[in-house]
Amino acid sequence: MAIHLLFLALLAMACSSAIASDPSLLQDVCVADKTSPVQVNGFACKDAMDIAAEDFHFSGLDKVGNTSNKQGSAVTAVNVAQIPGLNTMGISMVRIDYAPNGMNPPHTHPRATEILTVLEGSLFVGFVTSNPNNKLITKALNKGDVFVFPKGLVHFQFNNGTGNAVALAGLSSQNPGVITIGNTVFGSKPSIADHILAKAFQVNKETVDLMQAQF
Ligand SMILES: *[C@@H]1O[C@H](CO)[C@@H](O)[C@H](O)[C@H]1NC(C)=O
Ligand SMILES: *[C@@H]1O[C@H](CO)[C@@H](O)[C@H](O)[C@H]1NC(C)=O
Repeated sequence: MAIHLLFLALLAMACSSAIASDPSLLQDVCVADKTSPVQVNGFACKDAMDIAAEDFHFSGLDKVGNTSNKQGSAVTAVNVAQIPGLNTMGISMVRIDYAPNGMNPPHTHPRATEILTVLEGSLFVGFVTSNPNNKLITKALNKGDVFVFPKGLVHFQFNNGTGNAVALAGLSSQNPGVITIGNTVFGSKPSIADHILAKAFQVNKETVDLMQAQF
């Protein structure tokens, strides 16, 4: 009996760790009710009789993002925060604008694989596999090209074309999350102590201070 329970527990763990996207649907729709005090994984559902077209709609992805920032890029996200009907659907999208020499700096999406297509311009993109290989995979993309960034892996896009670039990407989560490496490591609040980062990156504390000052 105990052996059976252990086996079932291990099977359950194996299954849950093999799920590569948001949990699957148990009903047609579960439009997010952001006013509900109920705490669930995602959002509680609105009454299915109260749903309307607006719950599944977003307007404005034709608008150019403001790339006047240090990185020279802008991400316009369309996920469950913008479209409540995406709750439990396991999918979302972004528009990304890049000024010439602009970049979307190294980051990961903890909950989503990303598939990106270039609508305008040229991008040099890449991702790095996890330990121990840490293999860098890169590709020069032009208008119409499509590239995949696997779930959880650190990736970037750089506009090395002569003009602006625009990309559209789909992500396999209603709420992919973004961990920007520089922001988390050197820009956390409060800061990670100098001596910890100095030892982690094998540099002196002054170098750490210099890096922290950029974030
Ligand atoms: C773009 O962002 C910059 C920096 O935040 C700001 O100064 C500028 O007014 C913005 N431009 C537009 C068109 O919103
Ligand atoms: C961008 O850089 C990559 C890698 O160096 C190169 O293969 C590609 O041709 C460049 N694209 C443009 C438009 O210069």
